Amino acid sequence: MLRPFDMFKDKNRNTKVISIANQKGGVGKTTSTINLGVALAERGKEVLLIDFDPQSNMSIGLGVDIDSVGNRSIYHGLFDNSVSLPKVSHKTKIPGLKVAPATLDLTAAEIQLFAKDNREKTLDGLLKPHKSAYDYILIDCPPSLGLLTLNALAASDGVIVPLQCAYWAMRGMSQLMDTIDRVRESGMNPNLELTGILLTMYNNRTHHSKQVSERAREAFGDKVFKTVIKETVRFDYATVACESILTHAKTSEAAEAYRAVAKEVDDVQAK
Ligand SMILES: Nc1ncnc2c1ncn2[C@@H]1O[C@H](COP(=O)(O)OP(=O)(O)OP(=O)(O)O)[C@@H](O)[C@H]1O
Ligand SMILES: [Mg+2]
Repeated sequence: MLRPFDMFKDKNRNTKVISIANQKGGVGKTTSTINLGVALAERGKEVLLIDFDPQSNMSIGLGVDIDSVGNRSIYHGLFDNSVSLPKVSHKTKIPGLKVAPATLDLTAAEIQLFAKDNREKTLDGLLKPHKSAYDYILIDCPPSLGLLTLNALAASDGVIVPLQCAYWAMRGMSQLMDTIDRVRESGMNPNLELTGILLTMYNNRTHHSKQVSERAREAFGDKVFKTVIKETVRFDYATVACESILTHAKTSEAAEAYRAVAKEVDDVQAK
């Protein structure tokens, strides 16, 4: 079936590469990458999701059998010159959505990158020759500010920061913002922008959720997405089913919320 955007494929496409990053663990990075990716694909976009976390949660969450990936993994893309981006990009069940999976090999990447010339630009080098095949490339970062996350930021046009609406959530934000500034100012990637801060796991019955939301909007103004992702066990059910919330619970409030975030992201890019 010809998808609406197929006719424009590869022609002057303004590809946007966006890292989903926060060094704090369990804040919704992987959940947001998967669901935003599926929502953008639903909007007719060509999307590649890059799993940049050795935990492989995103790859598994999208139904990739990581034991049979062989050298078609993001690790091999980074370190084996004969492995290109198309080779590591696997189809998913969702039309328009591909995934470059992570395997346990990626655990060694931080150390191997350290020894490389131009080490922060390794991912950028893998993406550049082929990125025009996509409208969006989203990178699911690991919970650290190490060389993998730096590579992701150095290859990105924008960063989305999921912020869990819980006590201590704002701790570490200044460190993350300093890192983004450093990537920009060191010349590693002068054009890196903060696409937005996404409030996740919001529970309107808790004081902490309201407090985090208010403080984030005070500190970051309209950089905070209007859409808020509420806390719901549906995400865990979708994870168990190795599906996105958009396919597992199509009409749920959570699915609609990620569709609304995708629209906000698309609107930002259209400006
Ligand atoms: N809005 C939500 N409401 C409730 N649970 C959620 C929500 N978003 C994500 N979760 C659950 O929280 C857990 C952590 O989410 P996720 O794996 O996306 O975080 P992460 O930031 O990628 O974690 P890590 O830092 O380990 O990579 C998962 O079990 C997920 O299903
Ligand atoms: Mg994760």
